[in-house]
Amino acid sequence: MKERVEVSAPGKLMLFGEHAVVYGRPCIVTAVDQRMMVLAERTSEEVMEVNAPEVGVKNLVMTLNDLKKGNFPSEIRFLGTAVKNFFKNYHLAFGLKIKTRSDFLAEFGFGSSSAVTVGVLKALSELFEVKMTNKELFDLSYKTVLEVQSVGSGFDLAAAIWGGTLYFVTGGKKLVRLEAKDLPLVVGYTGVKADTPTLVKKVKNLYQAHPKSVEAIFGAIATIVKEARQALIGGEFKRLGMLMNINQGLLEALGVSTEKLSSLILAARRAGAYGAKLSGAGGGDCMIAFAPKEARLEVEKAIQKAGGKVIKVQPNALGLKVEEEEK
Ligand code: MEV
Repeated sequence: MKERVEVSAPGKLMLFGEHAVVYGRPCIVTAVDQRMMVLAERTSEEVMEVNAPEVGVKNLVMTLNDLKKGNFPSEIRFLGTAVKNFFKNYHLAFGLKIKTRSDFLAEFGFGSSSAVTVGVLKALSELFEVKMTNKELFDLSYKTVLEVQSVGSGFDLAAAIWGGTLYFVTGGKKLVRLEAKDLPLVVGYTGVKADTPTLVKKVKNLYQAHPKSVEAIFGAIATIVKEARQALIGGEFKRLGMLMNINQGLLEALGVSTEKLSSLILAARRAGAYGAKLSGAGGGDCMIAFAPKEARLEVEKAIQKAGGKVIKVQPNALGLKVEEEEK
């Protein structure tokens, strides 16, 4: 039996297809090299102790009974629900200590909740030597996320598990790894934290009010994603930039861009980027651009001048990894 296991899972950035992927369309996501570390340890006490400094949780202790009932403080609802579902699924209940450590700020929208969910479930499966395929891990993670926030396509969980750059269809119905090397990615943070469920709801309201028009937008986004998949494989960054611009236009039509996002996006384009768009739910968080090498610095400066913060991340990062275990 193992006594302690540490795993790490990467964050993600959506390249193409956000929102439409909630409605059964494909998207393209890349894992980024900012990681969430999860350390799980067995203890002999009938409690779970949690330290999660990135969400301000220090030495939180709860009984296994409260855990079973799902009585968690909101800061640890992904972590807690993941443990609850693991114990329920595999008929286990043991004392635990869980510690998380994050390279990235939850504000960036890099998917800290999905990385925690995947990290906790993987750490527990290693700790209790429960065999789980990546698909089983995805399914339990997806169930956990839907239980906590009711909406989501699961694309962020797939990135946390498999890493790399993925063509992904809602709920993992399709998952293809893309050979996307040397993506010339620039990332700008708006300084505004976005709330994904609120933005998904906003699009849902628009969809209910104008089903035909919004269906047509989703269809156009799906076409862009399919073209981008080909262009990514061929390393056609100019074409990808154009596709980013068209995708951004459609996201504006869905009403999820903001003045700040649009101004960072326009600044990046003016400074010589191939193209730029928001990444994720919109409403804030990050924008992304593809920029030629010679224009990269100018693009970064333009984003900063427009009030954004440039975040240095490497795309196409490694997926879930067991860092350390102790018998
Ligand atoms: C949020 O980062 C991306 C959305 O498409 C939601 C999801 O796919 O879960 C808006």
